[in-house]
Amino acid sequence: MDKQNNALLETKNLVKSYPSSIGVTTVLDSINFVAHEGNFIAVVGRSGSGKTTFLNMLAGLDTPTHGDVFIKGRNLSDMNDSEITNMRRHMVGFVFQSFGLLPLLSAYENVELPLRISGYSSQERSSLTNQALETVGLEKRSSHRPFELSGGEQKRVAIARAIVGKPPLILADEPTGELDSNNSKSIFGLFKEVVNNQKITIIAVTHDSTLLSMADDVMELQTGKLEPVENIGLRFR
Ligand SMILES: Nc1ncnc2c1ncn2[C@@H]1O[C@H](COP(=O)(O)OP(=O)(O)OP(=O)(O)O)[C@@H](O)[C@H]1O
Ligand SMILES: [Mg+2]
Repeated sequence: MDKQNNALLETKNLVKSYPSSIGVTTVLDSINFVAHEGNFIAVVGRSGSGKTTFLNMLAGLDTPTHGDVFIKGRNLSDMNDSEITNMRRHMVGFVFQSFGLLPLLSAYENVELPLRISGYSSQERSSLTNQALETVGLEKRSSHRPFELSGGEQKRVAIARAIVGKPPLILADEPTGELDSNNSKSIFGLFKEVVNNQKITIIAVTHDSTLLSMADDVMELQTGKLEPVENIGLRFR
């Protein structure tokens, strides 16, 4: 079968540009990208190279200036707002660079929230939420609110929230930015496990050499282009 038709996620000539006082800044310059079921892809690039912009486009959180994003063959630009929201709810777990936790909710409630929105029963919610908190090693912190957690713990809550509904696609923006190397390793191990066992696709922005070595492919964003990186071990040690 043609692999292209099997893509979980695909971009065609994806362009994002912003008007600025010095003219138009093109952050993403005609990017053609394909990810299949069970791919674990790391994205690197210097600060401001467009990594967050790229993930936002993939999740339908932002709209392209030109070009298209397809999820399971469906063009996001053919979907209305509620279809995009629905797609995101069922298909995508997003780990935001800035956590995005709700301050008044406990760790448990933050992780449980996407399940509530998706209409899971209370029994399913409790079992999945406890499982996700255990996976990130936070079962003893479940009643803490975000301000009662360390930066790394908040990040782990954000990861638990992204994985709790076992979505087919996880988009993670610097998922281990605040974690020490042991915690980073266990998060990467978890990513690798869900990729292998549940055929989940992960696209993670990172500079962490441990994650880079675990990824199937490493891509670099540079001057608007996304290219595969060879010899990653030599460049990002
Ligand atoms: N709404 C906006 N209007 C204008 N320019 C923007 C907007 N959002 C992002 N940019 C610009 O797009 C570029 C890419 O930003 P982006 O946040 O994607 O970078 P990044 O690679 O994620 O950087 P970092 O590693 O620091 O998180 C930056 O130069 C930024 O200033
Ligand atoms: Mg960013």
